[in-house]
Amino acid sequence: MYILISPVLCCLWVSSVCGGFLEYNQNVLVPHDWKDVGRVSPEEELRLTFALKQQNVARLEDLLMKVSDPDSPLYGKHLSLEEVSRLVRPSAESQKVIGSWLQRHGIRDCHTVHTQDFLQCSMSAEQAERLLPGSRFHRYVRENHSVLRSSAPYSVPDELHPHLDFVGGVHRFPPEAQDLTHGSTKSQRSEASLHLGVTPSILRQRYNLSTSDVGVASNNSQAVAQFLEQYYHPADLSEFMNLVGTQGGGKAGLEASLDVEYIMSTGANISTWVFSNAGRHESQEPFLQWMLLLSNMSDLPWVHTISYGDDEDSLSTAYMTRINTEFMKAGVRGISLLFASGDSGAGCRHMGQENAFRPSFPASSPYVTTVGGTSFKNPFKLTEEVTDYISGGGFSNVFKMPDYQVNC
Ligand SMILES: *[C@@H]1O[C@H](CO)[C@@H](O)[C@H](O)[C@H]1NC(C)=O
Ligand SMILES: *[C@@H]1O[C@H](CO)[C@@H](O)[C@H](O)[C@H]1NC(C)=O
Ligand SMILES: *[C@@H]1O[C@H](CO)[C@@H](O)[C@H](O)[C@H]1NC(C)=O
Ligand SMILES: *[C@@H]1O[C@H](CO)[C@@H](O)[C@H](O)[C@H]1NC(C)=O
Ligand SMILES: *[C@@H]1O[C@H](CO)[C@@H](O)[C@H](O)[C@H]1NC(C)=O
Repeated sequence: MYILISPVLCCLWVSSVCGGFLEYNQNVLVPHDWKDVGRVSPEEELRLTFALKQQNVARLEDLLMKVSDPDSPLYGKHLSLEEVSRLVRPSAESQKVIGSWLQRHGIRDCHTVHTQDFLQCSMSAEQAERLLPGSRFHRYVRENHSVLRSSAPYSVPDELHPHLDFVGGVHRFPPEAQDLTHGSTKSQRSEASLHLGVTPSILRQRYNLSTSDVGVASNNSQAVAQFLEQYYHPADLSEFMNLVGTQGGGKAGLEASLDVEYIMSTGANISTWVFSNAGRHESQEPFLQWMLLLSNMSDLPWVHTISYGDDEDSLSTAYMTRINTEFMKAGVRGISLLFASGDSGAGCRHMGQENAFRPSFPASSPYVTTVGGTSFKNPFKLTEEVTDYISGGGFSNVFKMPDYQVNC
């Protein structure tokens, strides 16, 4: 289904630079549902994201573990965005090296974030292809969506490697949403539709939430982040809230606003934010875009729920390692991130003779809370709650078991 691009192989493809691959194991194959409609013209505008190497990442991890550990004197002593910035901000040298590299290529329209570890720059396709030898930008379409991505791996000069983690907007395609209504087979879908009998009022009963169990603290907050097709419609939400007042409705929940509707009925009377990437630039990665936003906002909701996941083996180690650092930056501020575990059980990656488990990322990250699914034996009644058989699981093939799981 996909191939690992080895640096050696890449060198055959890219004659000008050798060994310059930050993301040597990034899957660059085009997912089957996206159609290549041709190379973009040289003047086409791209907006790429440069992930600058951060400082003190080990110290950040140590602090995260302490503020999260009830036995630590630092428990709950979360950092502000300003404090996180001071800790991880790239060195002056890194900022200078990356800045002058971009300038040499005539790239000047750049925006940074509060933590200064991301730069987002606009440039023409021609400039981008010169900046990143190997890259060749094409337009790809899926239904009504269009993205610009490179059909071949990009490289950067070796001397930049100590200063750059990866370049975003070149390879990863927006994934399909992971939720039960989007099961990957017909039988999963019809199975999922049965579960629509589990309305918020059934859930509130199941978890013994009475009408007085609503959020009362003024600083409570929660958020849902949705990418690509997952647009939230205020009209859907109010229709849903009306429907679920009367038992057994839930039809509106079939649409994309499912996450918003359920969080707002179980976390009742709590201000709810919705992060959505509607209308963003077609060369951006929606998930990465949301990560940048977290590094650029000092006041954020405390709890975020995100139904996003990619096969772990389709992503470069460089990318996942950096995204983990972004999760640590959020966690040390006291922000909880909940990710869907996926709907393929432990997953299976077919590799001829030997198959391997296929966990989903960010579900496999040690720095987020991964949430699986349960269902009721009789979906329309408050019957015994069982693990949903498609609920994702498994262990990371990339990250080691975190210390906090050792004694479990
Ligand atoms: C981060 O926020 C600042 C101030 O609001 C803004 O000027 C900048 O463009 C933002 N950065 C990005 C990458 O959007
Ligand atoms: C795509 O666009 C067409 C025409 O504008 C519209 O009828 C259709 O519903 C759209 N499909 C999606 C998935 O948005
Ligand atoms: C809800 O209350 C019932 C009856 O008091 C109890 O048996 C059950 O364990 C409670 N469920 C939860 C999730 O607390
Ligand atoms: C909802 O929260 C607000 C504060 O944000 C509070 O004033 C109000 O009493 C709460 N409503 C209920 C029903 O508890
Ligand atoms: C929420 O507000 C209460 C009352 O003002 C305060 O005691 C508490 O520390 C706040 N919690 C957070 C996480 O800010």
